[in-house]
Amino acid sequence: KSDSQAPSRPVGPEYRSTSQKPTATISTEISHPNVHILPQTPQLIALLTMIRDRNTGRADFIFYSNRIIRLLVEEGLNHLPVVEHTITTPVGRSYSGVKFEGKICGVSIMRAGESMEQGLRDCCRSVRIGKILIQRDEDTSKPKLYYDKLPEDIANRWVLLLDPMLATGGSALMAVEVLISRGVPEEHILFLNLIASPEGAAKFAERFPKLRVVTAFVDQGLDEKNYIVPGLGDFGDRFYTM
Ligand code: PRP
Ligand code: URA
Repeated sequence: KSDSQAPSRPVGPEYRSTSQKPTATISTEISHPNVHILPQTPQLIALLTMIRDRNTGRADFIFYSNRIIRLLVEEGLNHLPVVEHTITTPVGRSYSGVKFEGKICGVSIMRAGESMEQGLRDCCRSVRIGKILIQRDEDTSKPKLYYDKLPEDIANRWVLLLDPMLATGGSALMAVEVLISRGVPEEHILFLNLIASPEGAAKFAERFPKLRVVTAFVDQGLDEKNYIVPGLGDFGDRFYTM
């Protein structure tokens, strides 16, 4: 057989048939219409493979997480409203485009959510960023609210809520309750997340059906300590201290 007749080797997402793909390679699908999972491209899966690997050191963990965060922010921005905006190009032709409408701000759930602030700033220059410090109790997995500092006019802004991990969903639910108590309409909240558990994502999406979640991956589940599996371990520790 000549080379030109050899069957071409599948590449990209088709590198194996769906039935032969190892479990957890591609995100679990989820039936909630307000949960948007990033397209499962070979590039995204390669980035996720890097950050999930226990042998990936801190510098690479930060670098590859930042690349996924950038994808999440870019996709998240697609969910903000735009209005028609026509401009004239340097060659004198008109172009019927769009521009973003309304004010935005970021809110990070500390500590791990702060890792996503730079990605947001890279896309939205001088964006305002609020903070909510919520920590999960290591024994009970229950979230505790310690502190919040939010823009005064947050009720008039679209809020991009940032946290890379959605496990039981307790921390994110608590953060949204804080935002709603400050007058932010549920439908003006966009939760950007790297990895979610199916149960956490479902609980969150059902409790707040008008809010949108943009995530890179819905994993298999939770272990007995309520860590996401296969997951990536403790995101905050790997990004900030390990
Ligand atoms: C992690 C993570 C989320 C939360 C997810 O934070 O960043 O905020 O756990 O778990 P849940 O969905 O079960 O609430 P953690 O409280 O460990 O603090 P950290 O950001 O300082 O690592
Ligand atoms: N927080 C993390 O950082 N990882 C998990 O798997 C669950 C909560």
